[in-house]
Amino acid sequence: MKIIQITDTHLVPPGQLLHGLDPSARLRKVLDHVRDTRADADLLVFTGDIANDGAEEAYLSLRDMLSDIPLPVRFMLGNHDRRASFRKIFPKAEVDGAGFVQSALATRDGRDLLVFLDSLHEGQIGGRVCDQRADWLRDTLAQTPKLPVTVFVHHPPVAHGMRHFDNIGFHDADTLMKVLRAHPGGVRHIFFGHIHIPLNGVTRDGIGFSAGRGCNHQFVQEFDNPAPPWAAGPLNYTIITIREDGVFAHGCDMFDVIPLGPSRACAGP
Ligand SMILES: [Fe+2]
Repeated sequence: MKIIQITDTHLVPPGQLLHGLDPSARLRKVLDHVRDTRADADLLVFTGDIANDGAEEAYLSLRDMLSDIPLPVRFMLGNHDRRASFRKIFPKAEVDGAGFVQSALATRDGRDLLVFLDSLHEGQIGGRVCDQRADWLRDTLAQTPKLPVTVFVHHPPVAHGMRHFDNIGFHDADTLMKVLRAHPGGVRHIFFGHIHIPLNGVTRDGIGFSAGRGCNHQFVQEFDNPAPPWAAGPLNYTIITIREDGVFAHGCDMFDVIPLGPSRACAGP
């Protein structure tokens, strides 16, 4: 199962810029690259902060851009999103019974479960799973107790080493992690956004996690600075492959790579 992760697109209404960048133009190039070079992908996921101010016009521009992308899509919402605006423009997006934009999906081979969580708590920057969403997750996991789960969510429910996000992280992450750790099938990986810089890590008890790089603006990596500068960075997305022998996350940020000539195949040893 191959999944393309795009995160923190921060789309604004057409004609506007954000931090001097055009989020729609950047995303258009990313989607073109995905469409032209990743024909074997099975799924496209947006891990939140789809729109910068939750504006309907921003979601409309995304809907237009996706019209020539031949991939099913799952959406996560981030703190910059607005659930009502998103659902108005994407009325067919998967939601749970309470209207949260979250869902589950078995992988193509049926060996893994993917869960897409809604961590948006409107009015706050930090995320929440809340008791209601935790119950949904518990019930969802209970339907396939033996399947290992891979989680997609906007806010990082694990330590991330960025002081800027200390007060605006996942406020009830312990609730989420408790549900996940109780899953008999285990947790293979947690993919998130929010921090805008690439990160790979593992929890003390062995749960792997990673953050995609922001699609629009990114951060200078001043980890202890509570207000690090925003930065422009490479266009990018992450290629996630879920196989029996592992979960792989290849960061693709090589849009402007300069070819230097062919390499040679190495027969070994
Ligand atoms: Fe963001």
